[in-house]
Amino acid sequence: MNKQTDIEKPWTGRFTEPTDAFVEAFTASVQFDQRMFRQDIAGSIAHAKMLAHVGVITGQERDAIIKGLEEIRAEIERGEFPWSIALEDLHMNIEARLTERIGVTGKKLHTGRSRNDQVATDIRLYLRDEIDAICTGLRRLQRGLLTVAEREAATIMPGFTHLQTAQPVTFGHHMMSWFEMLERDYQRLRDCRRRVNVMPLGAAALAGTGYPIDREFTARELGFDGIAENSLDAVSDRDFAIEFTAAAALLMTHLSRCSEELVLWSSSQFDFIDLGDSFCTGSSIMPQKKNPDVPELVRGKTGRVNGHLIALLTLMKAQPLAYNKDNQEDKEPLFDTIDTLKGCLKVYADMIPNMRVKRDMLLEAARRGFSTATDLADYLVRKGLPFRDAHEVVGKAVRAGVDSGRDLSEMSLAELRRFSDVITKDVFQVLTLEGAVAARSHIGGTAPDQVKAAIGRAKKRLTG
Ligand code: ARG
Repeated sequence: MNKQTDIEKPWTGRFTEPTDAFVEAFTASVQFDQRMFRQDIAGSIAHAKMLAHVGVITGQERDAIIKGLEEIRAEIERGEFPWSIALEDLHMNIEARLTERIGVTGKKLHTGRSRNDQVATDIRLYLRDEIDAICTGLRRLQRGLLTVAEREAATIMPGFTHLQTAQPVTFGHHMMSWFEMLERDYQRLRDCRRRVNVMPLGAAALAGTGYPIDREFTARELGFDGIAENSLDAVSDRDFAIEFTAAAALLMTHLSRCSEELVLWSSSQFDFIDLGDSFCTGSSIMPQKKNPDVPELVRGKTGRVNGHLIALLTLMKAQPLAYNKDNQEDKEPLFDTIDTLKGCLKVYADMIPNMRVKRDMLLEAARRGFSTATDLADYLVRKGLPFRDAHEVVGKAVRAGVDSGRDLSEMSLAELRRFSDVITKDVFQVLTLEGAVAARSHIGGTAPDQVKAAIGRAKKRLTG
C-alpha cells in the first residue's frame, strides 16, 4: 500500500494543513473496501451512462470514462493498481486514477454524486452478489443432506430429549430436520435480498442533486429492483446489512447445532458416525486421537458472526441522519460474515455426504434406553387403559428393566403381564424398534415411508 502523503486528495480545497499521517491511516478504508472494486466500477459506468443520457456530459466524455474505468478494472485484476492510503478509500483511488489516465474528463464522473450514495450502492451490489453465492452454497449442502437422508431413510437411531434416549427415530428423519432449518435460512436470505437490491444512487451526499438525473435509468443499468425513496434514508441506513447478518447468525446457529451433534456422534462414547480422515485432524501428543475439527470450528465461528451482528446493531443505534463516518465500520463485520458463511457452507457441503453412518451402533444405542416405552403405553391405551394409568404401568415395567438391566423387549410375556393383565403376546410387535418408527406414519413423522415422501417434496422445492 502506497503511504506517500504528497498525493493530491480531491477534497483539500478548504484545508490549509496536511492530514496527520496517523489520522490518514486511521480514517482510511481502502485496505478493506477495495474488494468492492467491481461493483464500484459498474456503478460508475452506469452513472456515466446516465449523465450522458440526460445531457450532463457528452457521449464522447462518457465513452472515455467507460474505457478508462474498464482499463482500471483490468489493472486491479492484474494486481497492478497503485492503491494509496492517502486517497482514503476505493472510490477516491479509482477516481484519481481515472483522471490520471484520461485527463480532465475523469473529473466529471463525480457530477451529481457523492461518496455517500456511491458507497451505499457499492455495498448493496456487493452483498446482492454474495447472497446469491451463499444461496448456491446452501443449496449444495441441502442436496448433500438429501443424499444422506435417502440412503438412511430406514436407519434406526435413538431420538433424544434432554440428550437422553427418548423414542426411536430414523437417521433420514434427523437429516431432514437439518434440511428444514436450512430451508428457512435460504428463504430468509432470498427475502433479505429483495430489500438489499434497492438503489441509493441519486441521493448524492444526503439531499439529492440539482442535476436532471434519471434514477430509473441507472437502476435498470445496474439490475436494481427498486430505487430508494428517501435520500436521507438511502445514504444513512445500514439495516439491510444488519438484516443479512441476522440471517447469517441464524444460519450459523443452525450449523453450530448440527456441529454439536456431529461432535457428539463421532466421539467414542456415541460412536454413531465416522466423519472421514480428510475432515479430521490428529493430536500432536495423543496418538489415538482423531478430532472433529471441522464441526468444532464451525461451531466456534458462530461466535464471530453473532459478534458482527451486535457490532452492526450498535454501529447504527445512535447515528443521527444522514451519513456519518461511523458507517465506514459496516464493512469489516459484513465482509467477515460473508467469508465465514461461505467457508462454513463449503466445508459442510463437502463433509456431509462423506460421513459414514454406523448403522449397527445406532441400532444398538436405540435398543438401550427403553425407547419403545411410549409405544407400550399406547398399546395399553388401545387395550382400554386411560393414558395416565398406562403411563404408570409402563413406568413400573421400566423400573424393573433398569433393576435387571434389560430392555422391555427382553422381558417374557409372563413378566410383562405382572404389570397389566391386558398385555398379550402381540405386545412384542410394538416393542420392536421397526414397529415403533413405522407407526409414526403421518406428514412430518419419522416412518421410513414418510421420510421418503418428505425427501420427494424437498427435491421439488429445490428445483421449483
Ligand atoms: N469510505 C467511506 C465509507 O466507507 C465512503 C463514504 C465517505 N463519505 C464521506 N463523506 N466521508 O463509508
